[in-house]
Amino acid sequence: MLSNLDHIEQQALKALESIQDEASLEIWRVAYLGRSAPLMPIFDQLGKLSTEERPIIGRRANEVKRTLEAAYSIRLETLRQSTLQRSLQTERLDVTLPGRNLPFGRLHPATISMREIVRAFAEMGFQVYRSPEVETDDYNFGLLNMPPDHPARDMWDTFYTSMPNVSLRPHTSPGQIHVMRQYAPEPIRAILPGMCYRYEQISARKETQFNQIEVLAVGKNITLGDLKGTVSDLAHRLFGKNIRTRFRASYFPFTEPSAEYDFECLLCNGQGCAVCGWTGWLEIGGCGMVHPTVLQNGGYDPEKFSGFAAGIGTERIMMLKHRIEDIRHFWANDMRFLEQF
Ligand code: PHE
Repeated sequence: MLSNLDHIEQQALKALESIQDEASLEIWRVAYLGRSAPLMPIFDQLGKLSTEERPIIGRRANEVKRTLEAAYSIRLETLRQSTLQRSLQTERLDVTLPGRNLPFGRLHPATISMREIVRAFAEMGFQVYRSPEVETDDYNFGLLNMPPDHPARDMWDTFYTSMPNVSLRPHTSPGQIHVMRQYAPEPIRAILPGMCYRYEQISARKETQFNQIEVLAVGKNITLGDLKGTVSDLAHRLFGKNIRTRFRASYFPFTEPSAEYDFECLLCNGQGCAVCGWTGWLEIGGCGMVHPTVLQNGGYDPEKFSGFAAGIGTERIMMLKHRIEDIRHFWANDMRFLEQF
């Protein structure tokens, strides 16, 4: 019986040596330490042994059992360690790797330009007002001193709607009437930024939609000098102290006198280049002293009040600043263009 125990012990330990994973180890445990392990019948038979043999066999049987149990625990621990090592090796995280950049949004170039201009006017004491993008014929033209058959209406290629007398605004000037009617007879210093729509043949210089900022000042003793001062101040705030501005006589039905104003070409410093058509000047917008009829339509007595107005092409300013040659880039939603700002 003793040699039988020796044999069981050796066989079990030998089998244990070749075990490489926890599943096989479990099978081993059931085979050598489980209920039907070869050791068990020996324990069962202890009672039948003689009093001399019983303690010897019993002690040896217990010894074998403890040896196998100890060998099992050691093996189990070693296997667990090596499993852990293996997963540490293969699933290693390099915490020093740089993270992936999150794509983040940015302002649209038209918005950037709009904000720069709004900021410049805010510093000069102007407040921002909003007026509708869809207007009646009256606001777009009639109240701006252009009765229904006035030929000057042709200056704005307008999108008309299926509703009679309702159109998309082709300029921000109708906002002048809204602001005046809201604030008369208080003095006004306001700007009205927003989208305008024109039925244009689209080209590098013309789009069917674009932003304008309307400037309006109404008060007592407002002069053409105030208009010129405001426009040149704007140029200085946007492009620096050295830039020059000039006014050319022009015509708008809602201003008298009327002018168009130019900024000195930023690209050639007034020397003349392809962008300014070798004139040294860049056309920015129209302006003038508010026509007495328009003041009256807004609720101001033209005998007591005067005012000036100007329109600024927002995208135009951005094009000058960044040498953007084609206005169509603004609404094409091409990321290669938008990401540059
Ligand atoms: N509304 C005019 C345009 O879009 C510009 C302008 C504004 C002219 C204010 C005079 C006064 O062409």
